[in-house]
This record gives sequence, C-alpha cells and structure tokens, in this order.
Amino acid sequence: MATAKIHELLVVSAMVSLAYGSAYSAKPNIVIILIDDMGMNDVSFHGSNQILTPNIDALAYNGILLNKHYVPNLCTPSRATLLTGKYPIHTGMQHFVIITDEPWGLPSRERLMPEIFRDAGYSTHLVGKWHLGFWRKDLTPTMRGFDHHFGYYNGYIDYYDHQVRMLDRNYSHGLDFRRDLEPCPEANGTYATEAFTSEAKRIIEQHDKSKPLFMVMSHLAVHTGNEDSPMQAPEEEVAKFPHIRDPKRRTYAGMISSLDKSVAQTIGALKDNDMLNNSIILLYSDNGAPTIGIHSNAGSNYPYRGQKESPWEGGIRSAGALWSPLLKERGYVSNQAIHAIDWLPTLAGAAGVSLPQDLPLDGINLWPMLSGNEEPKPRTMIHVLDEVFGYSSYMKDTLKYINGSSFQGRYDHWLGELKTNEDHPLSESYEQHVLASDVQSILGNRWLTEDRIRQMRSEATEMCPPVEGLNPLEPQFKCEPLKAPCFFDLAKDPCERYNLAETYPLQLQQLADEVEQIRKTAIPSARVPYSDSRANPTFHNGNWEWWNNTDTDSSSGTFPINLWLVIGSIVVHRNLL
Ligand SMILES: *[C@@H]1O[C@H](CO)[C@@H](O)[C@H](O)[C@H]1NC(C)=O
Ligand SMILES: *[C@@H]1O[C@H](CO)[C@@H](O)[C@H](O)[C@H]1NC(C)=O
Ligand SMILES: *[C@@H]1O[C@H](CO)[C@@H](O)[C@H](O)[C@H]1NC(C)=O
Ligand SMILES: *[C@@H]1O[C@H](CO)[C@@H](O)[C@H](O)[C@H]1NC(C)=O
Ligand SMILES: *[C@@H]1O[C@H](CO)[C@@H](O)[C@H](O)[C@H]1NC(C)=O
Repeated sequence: MATAKIHELLVVSAMVSLAYGSAYSAKPNIVIILIDDMGMNDVSFHGSNQILTPNIDALAYNGILLNKHYVPNLCTPSRATLLTGKYPIHTGMQHFVIITDEPWGLPSRERLMPEIFRDAGYSTHLVGKWHLGFWRKDLTPTMRGFDHHFGYYNGYIDYYDHQVRMLDRNYSHGLDFRRDLEPCPEANGTYATEAFTSEAKRIIEQHDKSKPLFMVMSHLAVHTGNEDSPMQAPEEEVAKFPHIRDPKRRTYAGMISSLDKSVAQTIGALKDNDMLNNSIILLYSDNGAPTIGIHSNAGSNYPYRGQKESPWEGGIRSAGALWSPLLKERGYVSNQAIHAIDWLPTLAGAAGVSLPQDLPLDGINLWPMLSGNEEPKPRTMIHVLDEVFGYSSYMKDTLKYINGSSFQGRYDHWLGELKTNEDHPLSESYEQHVLASDVQSILGNRWLTEDRIRQMRSEATEMCPPVEGLNPLEPQFKCEPLKAPCFFDLAKDPCERYNLAETYPLQLQQLADEVEQIRKTAIPSARVPYSDSRANPTFHNGNWEWWNNTDTDSSSGTFPINLWLVIGSIVVHRNLL
C-alpha cells in the first residue's frame, strides 16, 4: 500500500517535471501582497458599495475569500508574525511599533520565512515596507533572507519623495528608499504604489524560471504619509470618486484604486511570464484601518468594533484572499479562523518546503483544509498581550475575552460608518463590473457567474444580527474594558455589542486564567523606547540608515519595566500631539 503510494507520487512528479520541461521549477511561486492599514469595509467583497475594488474582489472570488482572517493589531507585530510564524509575545515584538530613531528590531536569533524559502531554492524578494528594524545593518531585509529589497525601512514614507520627516525631532529630513543596501533617490517623484508595481513586474520578468520565486509585495498603501502631508494619491485616481464628499475619504479611495490596479498588473506579469499557473497568491491587510487618531486614514472597519491598535475585531480582523490553481477547491468563502501565525507553515506545506525541526511555531499548516474546503476547526488565539500598555484580547473558538484597552478607550467604539447615499455609480452592476475586471480576464474562470459573486459577497457581508430577546442598550451588556474584563460570544455577536461578563462569570474567569497561562510563555518586549539622535539623517548623507554596526542584539529584557512604562508613555504622548 505504502509503496504503491510512493510509486504514484514518483509518477506524478515525473509528469509534473515533464509538463514543465527542465526550464520550470516544480515548486510553486509565492507572492504575498501585504496591504498596510486597510479596513475590512474598504474592499467591495465585504459588501461595501462605496469604494469598488474589482480586481482584488475577482482574486477573492476565484480563490478563497478569507472571511475570518486574524492579524496582530499593529504594523511591526503583524509583520514579525508573518515572517516568523510566531505570536509577537514569543519574539518580543508585542509592544508598539519601531519608531524611526529607536535602537531595536526583530531579534536576529529568529529564523525568517525568506531564509527558509531561500534555503529551499527560492529566489527571495521584498518590495516595499520592512518596519522590523534597521538601526544595525544586520537587521535589514537583505541581511535576513531576502536576496533583494526595493523599498523602505520605516513605518511609512512620503508617497512621492520617499522621505521620512520626524516633525517632533530636531533632525534633518531623510530619504528612506533603497535598492538593496544602496540609497535610491532615482525614484523620487514616482508614486510609491507605482514604483513598487514596476519593480514587482521587473522582478517577475527577469526571474530565472529554473528557480521558484518568493516575493513579498509590502505596500505603503493605504498607510498615511508624513504628518505634514498624510493623504496622497494620484489626482486621476481621486477623480474617480466624486460621489464621496469627505475629501480625506475621497483621497483614501484614490489610494485604494491605485492599489487595486497594482494587483491586476502584478498578476498580469505572472501570467505574461508563464508563472501564474504554478503560483500561490496571498493578499491581506496587516491590521485594521486607523479610522481616527494616530495615522488615521479615514479607513473603515465598520460594522466591526474598534480599529487598528485596539483589542476589538476592527483591529484584528483583516480583509484577505488566497488564490492558486494548486487549491483543489476554489471559489468559496472560508469561515476557518486563520491567523498570520499560520502562513509560514501553510505556505511551506503547500510548497513542500520542510521547516527546521527545532522551530517552535505557533501557527499550523492549514493548506490541506483550505484546499479541501473542510469543516472549520475551532482555534484558540491570543490577539493582544501587551504588558506595557496593559491590555489583552483573547479568543477561544467563538468566545472572546478583553481586559484593558488602548488610548484610554478612545478606540472602543464602532467607527467609520459609511454614508448611505455615497454608493459608487457602478455598484448597481457590481457583479458585471467584477467580471469585466483585468484580474477576471487574466484568471479567466468561466464558472464565476454573477449569481456566484452575489452569493459569496453576501456570505462575506457582516449584518451584526441582533441576539434574540436581548437589548444591546441595556446597561448589563455595556463593555468598559478599562473598568472590568468583558466577554463576548462572537458566533452570535461578531460585532461585540453584548458583553456577557455578568451572565457568564465562570466562563470569563476560565478565559482570564488561560490568558495568565499564556502570559507565562511571553518573553519581555524587545522594544527600546529611546530616541537615539545618532539616527539623524544629517549624519548619514541625508538618508535613514543603520547607525550602530555592532552585531549583538540590543539589551532586550534588561530594561527595567517601570522605566519602560515611563518612557513608553512619554513617547506615546508625544505621538498624540
Ligand atoms: C504552465 O505554463 C507553462 C508555460 O506556458 C506550461 O509549460 C505548463 O505546462 C503549464 N503547467 C500547468 C500545470 O498547466
Ligand atoms: C537642532 O539642530 C541644530 C542643527 O543640527 C543644532 O545646532 C541645535 O543645537 C539642535 N537643537 C537641539 C535642541 O537639539
Ligand atoms: C525630489 O525631487 C524634488 C523635485 O524635483 C526635489 O525638490 C527634492 O529635493 C527631491 N528630493 C530628494 C530626497 O531627492
Ligand atoms: C485585567 O488587567 C489588569 C491590568 O493589566 C490586571 O491587573 C487584572 O488582573 C486583569 N484582570 C483579569 C480578570 O484578568
Ligand atoms: C553600538 O551598540 C553597543 C551596544 O549595543 C554600544 O556599546 C556601542 O557603543 C555602539 N557603537 C556605536 C558606534 O554606536
């Protein structure tokens, strides 16, 4: 029996290599399109008629629409999670983001996804944002498994001149744009989304097809630019949205529209270079949109509660889609709870890349169950555990526990509700619009019909059902996580309107106890919340560049916790100004 199976496998792999000829790698190409700060309600496949994203939607409808896709609630932790397959509490990346002049990064002891894929024969590329540290050269992407990087090190740059301007410091402005280790001023003036798309196309066109490709396309869109010019999009894209009255949201729509075009161009390049039929494409947003507050971009996670950098679903549920001809079942909405911790084992599993034995991953390989459209399995996920800001968010199957909050609870509301009379004129023929998109014509699946689109879209549209017999406005259901922990049943209440802490005190206590168990596994935050003025671009020819060349990790874990609290709150306070 076993030998027959092995024989079968050998025949199949022989056929595969025959089909491709010797010129093609047998391992699938992997392209991860990572979007920055886009809300659940800012793609049209979750039901919004205001900003239409026909290309992104066509990718989701032809592949798997990831309806319960979870991520950490902030950039740095989310990116660390994707690349390590571990929760931020297990890498030290759980607290805040790397501020430009702070001397810390993703500890160099971690083995990253690009290293693992490179060791398996992949050509590895990062286009766009890093945000996992650059104060030492050995922390930068081309030193950590990427053969090639074209993009920036910090959390955001200007969309056109690619500078980072720290307005609250006495520093010169600095360029944060590189080709590998060299500053790249030549791209000055090119809208970031377009610069990254051209580079992705170039990488695909020049790719040596005897090797598989691993590319993370990590967009600046739809994050804000510098504080003095946060909202930037090409005029012709913004002009497509006259039906949106708020100028900030209209510019945001232009950013999304440019991104939607980029998705089509990137997939088109894979097709034109005969790589698409052996590719896996994963697309998602790193965290929920910041509707208000720091770096707010007018994005919307409505009707989910909260936003980026909060413990609520609006911060941690992310719009996502997976497409590949290697998936046996496609064209469906997945309600499997998936977390960014799962992508390393899942993509490695799909590609037949073996993981180092000693890698203590938090994620699991979900490829077989996604490919087979199997019944969703219950999952347990620690969404937030931040000792310094002092809040936690935990999910056991459909039960959710929240204790404490961020920003004194300022983001604890339902934010970003869209105006009812601002539908896109083409939304009346939404399904036809998707079927006429570039991505649909590239993927060319004839089984995708208007009915199928309508059905998938309605399955992925959140209606926030009322819980029968309960009035959400009754005081007992009110959740004030700064005063007392809250407890929700997401199966009945995905929008977190009914706090059941008073109804189920024992179950709440059970989850609280589990969080305490998980807390014991956390390592201290690696953050060094200290402004190191040696970062000043004036000392580095006007570039943001590493400023310490020693190879040892910084004093992670030795910073006294009370000092962290003090410095942490000073830094946050300054950012709020
Ligand atoms: C993929 O495309 C290449 C180039 O057109 C072709 O040689 C190969 O047979 C195709 N493979 C599959 C699995 O369709
Ligand atoms: C600000 O920068 C200028 C020029 O580098 C320097 O002369 C000045 O002393 C700095 N001021 C402070 C408060 O650091
Ligand atoms: C980018 O180009 C603009 C306009 O040509 C110029 O004013 C600016 O100094 C340039 N910036 C950088 C960082 O080279
Ligand atoms: C909630 O969080 C606070 C502050 O971190 C902590 O002191 C308290 O023990 C937590 N409560 C529960 C029930 O977990
Ligand atoms: C680099 O960092 C180490 C400790 O992390 C410190 O001792 C050393 O002085 C720094 N060197 C430079 C050139 O900044």
